[in-house]
Amino acid sequence: MADIQKLLAQMTLEEKIGQLMQYNGNVFMDTSAEITGPMQQFGLTEADLGRMGSVLNFASADEMKAMQDLHLSKDPHKIPMLFMMDVIHGYRTIFPIPLGLGCSFDPALAKECSQMAAREAGASGVQVTFTPMVDYCRDPRWGRVMETCGEDPMLAGHLGAAQVEGFQGEDLKEYDHLAACVKHYAGYGGVEAGRDYNLVERSERELREYFLPAYKACIDAGAALLMPSFNSMNGIPSVANPWLMKKILKDEWNYQGVVISDYNALGELLVHGVAENEKQAAQLAFQNGCHIEMCSSAYLHHLKELVEEGTFSEAQIDEAVTRVLELKDRLGLFDDPYHGADQQKAEALFLCPEHRELVRRAAEESAVLLKNNGLLPLSEDLNRVALIGPFAQEQGINGFWSCCGRDEDTVTMAQGIRKLLPEAEITVARGCGCQWDDRDTSGFEAAVQAAKNAQAVILCLGEPQTYSGEGNCRADIRLPGMQLELAKAVIDANPNTAVVLFHGRPLDISGLDEIAPAILSLWFPGTEGGNAAANLLFGRANPCGKLDMTFPRSIGQCPIYYNHPNTGRPHWTNEAKQQHFASDYIDCPTLPLYSFGHGLSYSHFVYSDLQVSSPVLTAETCIQVSVTVKNDSPRPGKEVVQLYMRDPVASVVRPVQQLIGYQKLAFAPGEEKHVTFPVTEEMLRFWNFEGQHTSEPGTIQLMVGYADHFLLSQHIEYRA
Ligand code: NOJ
Repeated sequence: MADIQKLLAQMTLEEKIGQLMQYNGNVFMDTSAEITGPMQQFGLTEADLGRMGSVLNFASADEMKAMQDLHLSKDPHKIPMLFMMDVIHGYRTIFPIPLGLGCSFDPALAKECSQMAAREAGASGVQVTFTPMVDYCRDPRWGRVMETCGEDPMLAGHLGAAQVEGFQGEDLKEYDHLAACVKHYAGYGGVEAGRDYNLVERSERELREYFLPAYKACIDAGAALLMPSFNSMNGIPSVANPWLMKKILKDEWNYQGVVISDYNALGELLVHGVAENEKQAAQLAFQNGCHIEMCSSAYLHHLKELVEEGTFSEAQIDEAVTRVLELKDRLGLFDDPYHGADQQKAEALFLCPEHRELVRRAAEESAVLLKNNGLLPLSEDLNRVALIGPFAQEQGINGFWSCCGRDEDTVTMAQGIRKLLPEAEITVARGCGCQWDDRDTSGFEAAVQAAKNAQAVILCLGEPQTYSGEGNCRADIRLPGMQLELAKAVIDANPNTAVVLFHGRPLDISGLDEIAPAILSLWFPGTEGGNAAANLLFGRANPCGKLDMTFPRSIGQCPIYYNHPNTGRPHWTNEAKQQHFASDYIDCPTLPLYSFGHGLSYSHFVYSDLQVSSPVLTAETCIQVSVTVKNDSPRPGKEVVQLYMRDPVASVVRPVQQLIGYQKLAFAPGEEKHVTFPVTEEMLRFWNFEGQHTSEPGTIQLMVGYADHFLLSQHIEYRA
C-alpha cells in the first residue's frame, strides 16, 4: 500500500496536475523528434508524458506495458498511469448490446458477462472501464439508446449495479477485475429530439424519479469512477453543473470516487457558450468536482495559474489528486503497474469455449419473441430452408461498442443454422434479396424463388450496427431501404417465414408486424449470434426475453413509455372513439406496438390466484404478494413474473404503472410455482411537490402481468 500523503508532499504542483490529465495512448506513440500529431494537438511537452495520470485507449497488453514503462522511466516519483477503455458489452468475446441484455431481466447474467469482459480486458491491460452506462432513455431515435438498460429506472439500476459488481469484484487488486465508471451523469438519454449531444431540459421531479436512480444504484454498488455527460442539463453542461455535481453528487450522495470528464467535455464548455476560454472551462469543471480531464488541456494549461492567483487552494488540488492516487493504490498499481496485463493470457481467453458458451447463452436470454402465430419453433426435420435478407450472412452483428470485438469472429445466421441442421439444404438467396439501405430490388426475384423452393424461410432483417451508438441517431426508425418490400414479396411467396431482427433500438416495425407470422428480435447479439438464433428458431432454446423498452407503432408516438404519468383525459376513456377530446391520436392508436415487459415463449404460462398477505400496509410492515404461475405446456421454459403498482390518488400525478418487482423463473413442463414478492412502504415513495421523497396514505393497486396488459390485480391500503 502506498503512503499517498507522503507521496503528495514530495510532488510539485505541475506533477499533481499531471495526475488529473488523460490523453489517448497515441500521444505516447508520437516518437518523432519534433512535437507533432496528437502531442501538438493537445499542447503537450515531453515532460508531460512523465507526469501524465492516465491513458485512454490502446491496442494490447504489450502496448500498455510499453507505455507504462516509458512513462515510469520519465516520472521521478514512479507513479504508474491508469489505463482506461470502453469495455461495454465485451472486450473481444462480445455479448449482446446492453439494451438487448436488459431484456434478459437477469442482473446475475449481466454480472457474469461483466466478469468475463473483465477477465479479457484485465489481461489486455485495461484497469478502468467506462461502463456501466445507465442513461434513462425513452427515445429510440437516440443512437446511444443501444447502450442503455431501457425505460425502467429500477431495472436499469439493478443491471448497472450488477455490472459494477461483475467488473470490480471484491478487490480491485485482483487481476480479473477492473474499476468501473458509471456514466453519463446525468440525463444524457433525455436529449431533445433524440439527437445526440443535444440539450436536456427536465423537471427536478422527473430527474429524481426516472433519470437519477440508476446512477445512484451504481454508486451504491461501489462504482469507483463517474463520468458527467456531454449535454447541458437545464441550462448548464453537466461537468460544470453545480446542481448535479455539488448538490446531488457531493452533498446528497456523498460520492467519494473519481470524477472523469467525457472526451473534450471541458473544451466543449466553450462551444456550448458557458466558458469564454479554456481557463474559465478549467475553473468551472474543477470547482464543480471534476477530477480528471479527458482529452482536452484546460487543466494542464490553467490549473496552476488558477492556484497561483488564489482561485483554488493547493489543498483542493491535493484532494482531487488523492482520489486518483487512491484509485491507483486500490488497483495495486504501485506494486504492480501492469495489473496482471499479459498478452498470452489474454489471447488464451479471447473467444475461448467458456466465453463463447456464456455469450451464446446471453444472446439466447436477451432475444425477444415479439410475435408468433405458431410457426416457431421450426422443426429440425426440415430439409430445405432459405435464408434471405441483408443479415443472412452478415458478420457485423456485434453492435457499436464492441471494443476489440471483430466482425470476422462472429457466427452468422447461415453458419449457425447450417451447424444445427447439417443434413438440410440451407440456401442463402443470391444477393440476400436486398441490401440494407439502397433502393435496388434486383435481388427480389432470386429471393422469391428461394422462398418458393424452401419449406421454411428465415428472413434476416434490421438496421446495420453503424446505425446506432454514439453519433448515430435516426429520425426515421423504420427498417431502412427496401427491406419491408422484400418481406412482403418473400412472405407472399412462402407464408412459413420467420423474421429475425437485428437492431440497436426499438424500431417501427408496424408494417412488418402486419404481415410476418413470427418475429424474433435478437438486437445485436454479439459473437455467438448465429448459434443463439439457430437454437431459438428450432426450439433448442426457448425465448424468454421481455422488452426493456417499448416498441412504438410509429415514430410520431415517441417518446412512448409504459410508466408515464396519467392525464386528465386518458386514452382509454376513448376506446369506442366516442369521446373526441381524449389524449390520443386521430391517425394512430395510442398504445404502442409492443410494450415494455412483452415477450413470448414457446411455453404457455397461466397466472392465477393473486393474493396479498394483508390488505393493509404500514410503514413498519411488509406485505407479501403471491401469485400462482403454471407452465401449461409440454416445454420447459422461463418466465419473468412482473409486479407493477399504481398509486391512483396522490398529491402529484403518478405513473399509470410502475414495475416494483420481477422474478425470472424456470419451469418444467406442467410445473406450477407460487411466486412471492415483498411490498414495503419504500416502494410507494415518490417526489412530492415540496421536494420530499415520501409516500402518502391511500389505496395502491398491485398488478401482475405485463405493462399495458396486466392479468391480475388487487388493491391494498397504505396507512402511514
Ligand atoms: C465519449 C463517450 O461519450 C463516452 O461514453 C466514452 O466513454 C468516451 N468517449 C471515451 O471513449
